[in-house]
Amino acid sequence: MNGSRIIGTGSALPRRIVTNAELAERVDTSDEWIVERTGIRQRHIAEKDETTATLATAAARAALADAGVDAASIGLIVLATATPDNTFPATATKVQAALGCRGGIAFDVAAVCSGFLYALATADSLLRTGMAQRALVIGAETFSRILDWEDRTTCVLFGDGAGAVVLEAPGADAGGSDAPGILGTRLHADGACHDLLYVDGGPSTTQTVGHVRMRGPEVFRHAVVNLSSVLKEVLEETGISSDEIDWVVPHQANARILDATARKLGISPDKVVVTVDRHANTSAASVPLALDTARRDGRIKPGDLVMLEAMGGGFTWGASLIRM
Ligand code: UT7
Repeated sequence: MNGSRIIGTGSALPRRIVTNAELAERVDTSDEWIVERTGIRQRHIAEKDETTATLATAAARAALADAGVDAASIGLIVLATATPDNTFPATATKVQAALGCRGGIAFDVAAVCSGFLYALATADSLLRTGMAQRALVIGAETFSRILDWEDRTTCVLFGDGAGAVVLEAPGADAGGSDAPGILGTRLHADGACHDLLYVDGGPSTTQTVGHVRMRGPEVFRHAVVNLSSVLKEVLEETGISSDEIDWVVPHQANARILDATARKLGISPDKVVVTVDRHANTSAASVPLALDTARRDGRIKPGDLVMLEAMGGGFTWGASLIRM
């Protein structure tokens, strides 16, 4: 039997766009270096009045409108973020209040760039147990607030934004790889890689928010290996071959990682949704943002077979195969 179905998607981006040229005025970098090494041309950066919760709420509203359902029908909100508005309560509860759907389940998930995959699997599991009938799964970040704007090796890579999906519990008739729903998911973590990508602050250690620190080339190598292997696992689990996939919606960290992973699996680059050029790396928001972008521009259609994948700090990584 298939898992829960995505019945609507939405996204939101901060108003302000920051180009590579603008960053080159602040740190020793260039548009040429950033484009060549990452594929990034610009990113959206939140203004003071734009927070993880406001972006998440806007994305959630867009997803609800797309699905044509009321906020009141949402019994579960799972929000993936590494940049919550406050240490507690969960940003998901702020979104719940803003949407006016009180009383259901609402909590955050912390798996950084893989957060949306973790949140989707968590929501799917809860829906399958009957804890709720309909969920909002959101990835939302304001990474600009945890960047060291003097560190050129990280500050050029990230952006802010949010993406959301409305997820509905599988009906009694759900089944078969042609029916809409989540067909298979695999998640992993390896905490021994903590020091390759982390934030050097937190309430229990420094009592500061801290900044992103990353050993980029090492993360890059792990990303290609881990992503290729988890994608293979999901294909094996579902009995689907890579040439049956219509679209890959990857975490948008670096255009070169997207190319290398697609090549390893023998998937044509034309089937890979790329938004890293416009959004940069928006951590947990990047997969649902890219999914919504490709649905709204008409690339991803009902019935398409879509592979979502991500890898991030922890390390954490995962993939999910979905019939839209
Ligand atoms: O979202 C979670 C997952 N994150 C990722 O997947 C990120 C994975 N890593 C990457 O995407 C890449 O490793 C980076 C984009 C972060 C870096 O690209 P790279 O090709 O691995 O470059 P590098 O770190 O090996 O640096 C090459 C050179 C160095 O100079 P030297 O030592 O060769 O003189 C860096 O200091 O480029 C220098 N450099 C820069 N130059 C201009 C590093 N950052 C910059 C910069 N502008 N912004």
